[in-house]
Amino acid sequence: MSQQKVVLAYSGGLDTACILKTLIQQGHEVIAYVANVGQLEDFDDIERRALATGASQVFVEDLRREFVTDFIWPAIAGKAVYEHRYLLGTALARPVIAKRHVEVARKVGASAVAHGATGKGNDQVRFELAFAALAPDLDIIAPWKDPKFLARFQGRRDLLAFAAEHDIPVEATAEKPYSSDENLMHRSYEAGLLEDPDIAPPADMFKLTRALDDTPDTPDTLVIRFKDACPIEVQHSSMGMSISDPIELLSYLNDVGGRHGIGRIDIVENRFVGIKSRGVYETPGGTILHAALRDLEGIAMDREVRRLRDMLSPRFAEIIYNGFWFSPEMDFIEAAFRKSSELIDGEVRLSLFKGNVMIEGRSSPSSLYDPDLSSMDVAGGYDQEDAQGFIRINALRLSAHRLIVQQTGDDDEID
Ligand SMILES: Nc1ncnc2c1ncn2[C@@H]1O[C@H](COP(=O)(O)OP(=O)(O)O)[C@@H](O)[C@H]1O
Ligand SMILES: [Mg+2]
Repeated sequence: MSQQKVVLAYSGGLDTACILKTLIQQGHEVIAYVANVGQLEDFDDIERRALATGASQVFVEDLRREFVTDFIWPAIAGKAVYEHRYLLGTALARPVIAKRHVEVARKVGASAVAHGATGKGNDQVRFELAFAALAPDLDIIAPWKDPKFLARFQGRRDLLAFAAEHDIPVEATAEKPYSSDENLMHRSYEAGLLEDPDIAPPADMFKLTRALDDTPDTPDTLVIRFKDACPIEVQHSSMGMSISDPIELLSYLNDVGGRHGIGRIDIVENRFVGIKSRGVYETPGGTILHAALRDLEGIAMDREVRRLRDMLSPRFAEIIYNGFWFSPEMDFIEAAFRKSSELIDGEVRLSLFKGNVMIEGRSSPSSLYDPDLSSMDVAGGYDQEDAQGFIRINALRLSAHRLIVQQTGDDDEID
């Protein structure tokens, strides 16, 4: 392979540190790119280590705002839930990381992008599909799919030995018996001792959510305001507090939701590459927002619009999970969802308690709820005699069917 200017997505871990070094040994100039998507890291230290390992430049990019407003908010507005459970915290971070990766590559005039995702996972697909969609001319270097690299590094021991041999500074933290990924949306856990799907995770693994035995015995009551299906304010009335900055708003919901043990799931999911995988996730803020918004839709979203949107939501989740954020199908769904969100304004009042999000009330300036129509006590412009015809016409089909099964003797369904 010819020598290139390469931008490496560098997370600061042992893998990417060794990858950085091997790329340099192959004669490449390597620029390290670190994305801040809200993970708790010492970014100065990561930068120092990348330079000490031989990176010619380091870009530490704060993507938090864009991540929240352009990826997390649309996913929540579109009810993106993969396989009925997973709120897609990692899947949503990958496209924003890849997008800036390409921008950094352009800025430095690189001809290749490199990443350290493995060949068995979803993330390689998410990164590489994003690169293909945004910058098809760039070469992609993925060492974990290179037979020579795989032969040389067969496990963590080989990586540690290589790091020691080349004075590569690695984090002092002890190896965890699982791997985890953290950002503003969630924290995920997989692999290691979680690979047995029948073994419960260790209690001390969880970082964002408390176990239910440790949650407060009194609820916290919040009001969440939405505009066009995006959260714009959270109020905690008894504490006289209001937050509207998107990053702070989500961080606050993570804190208070986590304190009440909200948003833990433990699932076996289907990876895009066809492998089943056990994953444990903590998504407190996202769980609260999904519940609040679904409630607001009850009062503010037209019934047929909601049905169509609900048909698309599972596909929307798959598109995100499988790594097709930058795709024509996503553009299509995004346009439809933007339209369906236009009137989703208003506020939801809810209590957080013992792992539950309990809705207490909702109101909307675009409410479709008509108290007179709904009331059992008021006529409200609804002629109840019309209901006779409505039922009669809907019943025609059912009566015809009954006659046929009686005539054919095939009527065991009412035996
Ligand atoms: N915050 C980040 N900044 C830059 N690159 C990242 C970031 N997170 C992940 N990556 C890229 O994605 C790859 C896979 O990430 P992950 O599975 O979280 O592994 P790890 O964090 O252990 O390196 C990393 O090797 C790296 O190339
Ligand atoms: Mg990581």
